[in-house]
Amino acid sequence: MSTSPFPADAHTDTHTHTGARGTSRTADGPAALRLPRYAPPPEGTHPPLLSPGYRSTVVRSPGRPLEVLPQYLTEVTGPLLGPGRVGELDHDLTRQHEGEPQGQRIVVHGRVLDESGRPVPDTLVEIWQTNAGGRYRHVRDSWPAPLDPNFTGAGRALTDAEGRYRFVTVRPGAYPWRNHDNAWRPAHIHFSLFGRAFTQRLITQMYFPDDPLFFQDPVFNSVPDERARQRMVCRYDHTATQPEWALGFAYDLVLRGPEQTPFEDEEHEEPEEHGA
Ligand SMILES: [Fe+2]
Repeated sequence: MSTSPFPADAHTDTHTHTGARGTSRTADGPAALRLPRYAPPPEGTHPPLLSPGYRSTVVRSPGRPLEVLPQYLTEVTGPLLGPGRVGELDHDLTRQHEGEPQGQRIVVHGRVLDESGRPVPDTLVEIWQTNAGGRYRHVRDSWPAPLDPNFTGAGRALTDAEGRYRFVTVRPGAYPWRNHDNAWRPAHIHFSLFGRAFTQRLITQMYFPDDPLFFQDPVFNSVPDERARQRMVCRYDHTATQPEWALGFAYDLVLRGPEQTPFEDEEHEEPEEHGA
């Protein structure tokens, strides 16, 4: 993901010519854009598409080699997300209903950074999570934990000029799923990052420190490298903890480079695989 879909030296193939409005075309139509390439992440940073311990990837992962599709202006210039799309209370999941939700109130904050530690502004950060009892407000989540009438579990924020985002929410609960015997997902918050183009979306999960369920979770453990796994774990941040109000947790997301956050395929588990 980049703050700009076009590097300064972005150009098109030499056999094209530039049209009146700056788009490049061949005799057969628009030419694919030549986009910047980045060094691949260190081995073991991202989970493989096929992780047999994470059962549904066996049928969900592609059986053939992936093909890179050419990108045109449509893919790299939309959807033009901006501050106008984020509501005043979208970042505060505790204030989206009549009353307050049950559970431990927390602040989750951090920055979106590139491989050099530079902030990435104007990134749409979206989160979704269970309520404090470990249940999603979703038609396919029907395990016998209570729903909370004051909690939807979805929020979004736009990073500021320093790449910062901030959410207020409640700490999510663990929940069972049917991947293996007595399987429970560690408490987590799903994160989606959207840059300035449809092709600039990254998804990951944020976990909490010292969760006793890590050892048996094939989603967390599908990231091969131990240090990369730890980059999915937030840290308790006493400076963000507000007296008599909320605990603070810090979680930075790094888009590229040796400290890159592990990102997952967009097609992933829940909520359809929760226990009934
Ligand atoms: Fe989940």
